[in-house]
Amino acid sequence: MNRIQNSLSLCTENDQRTWLAAACRAALTAGSLIRERYEQPHTIAMKGAIDLVTETDVASEAAIIASLAADTPGMPVMAEETVASHATVAERLWVVDPLDGTTNFAHGFPFFAVSIALLDCGKPVVGVVYAPLLDELFLAVSGCGARLNDRTISVTTTSRLIEALVGTGFPYQVEATLPMVIRQMQTVLPRVRDLRRAGAAALDLAYVACGRLDAFYEMNLQPWDTAAGILLVQEAGGMASTFAGAPFYPSSPDILASNGILHPQLLPLIR
Ligand code: IPD
Ligand code: CA
Ligand code: CA
Repeated sequence: MNRIQNSLSLCTENDQRTWLAAACRAALTAGSLIRERYEQPHTIAMKGAIDLVTETDVASEAAIIASLAADTPGMPVMAEETVASHATVAERLWVVDPLDGTTNFAHGFPFFAVSIALLDCGKPVVGVVYAPLLDELFLAVSGCGARLNDRTISVTTTSRLIEALVGTGFPYQVEATLPMVIRQMQTVLPRVRDLRRAGAAALDLAYVACGRLDAFYEMNLQPWDTAAGILLVQEAGGMASTFAGAPFYPSSPDILASNGILHPQLLPLIR
């Protein structure tokens, strides 16, 4: 519990402390459930041709919703597996991805996370991304900075594209998006140090925030993939935009997140 207590000192307002503590508690609870189930056999259902959901996604979501309901009674929740409606309109709203990187989880590829954000009028004010296998808790509070466990994090200062490690992702709608995915790769890959497709967008964004990646881009994402991660990036000194360069909101499907310095160089390549 220590790292949560320490991080609460980031907050300048009581509400922020309540929300951050609630998001962290829910993420750690779900994370330990995911860790326990990681090496067990999984029950897999298909949401689309290659879009999986496991019993652990569902169990994690139930645990998060129960935890958030106990700590912030009455606060509405948008969550990927049960209450994913984009129509959920509320001034304040939890946005939950109970297991980001389900394909990785199902294949025993150890890169996945829980993502929880609180939106206030569409903008994230608290964001938590928890990677259970490495026990890495990334958190950010609007205007108050970002942390990984007990330390403050910041984006890289990389200014030359050829020195940049860039993350990306491939949408589940492969056929519809393939031409764009390939075109972007054709323009980006020869100009950067390397490209990674690690398979969990929320964690990719957390990696931009802590400097393990210099930038990340992907199209067709959902609010639960990006809501916590963009706050991490912004509070760590980076920036997030749409492919057109407009300010990014969790309702936007296409994202470029970077250390800020590389943004003007990357935008024309992925547009
Ligand atoms: C997916 C992952 C993946 C990204 C997909 C997402 P899920 O989330 O973040 O990296 O490429 O677009 O939908 O389904 O594992 O929660
Ligand atoms: Ca996701
Ligand atoms: Ca998910």
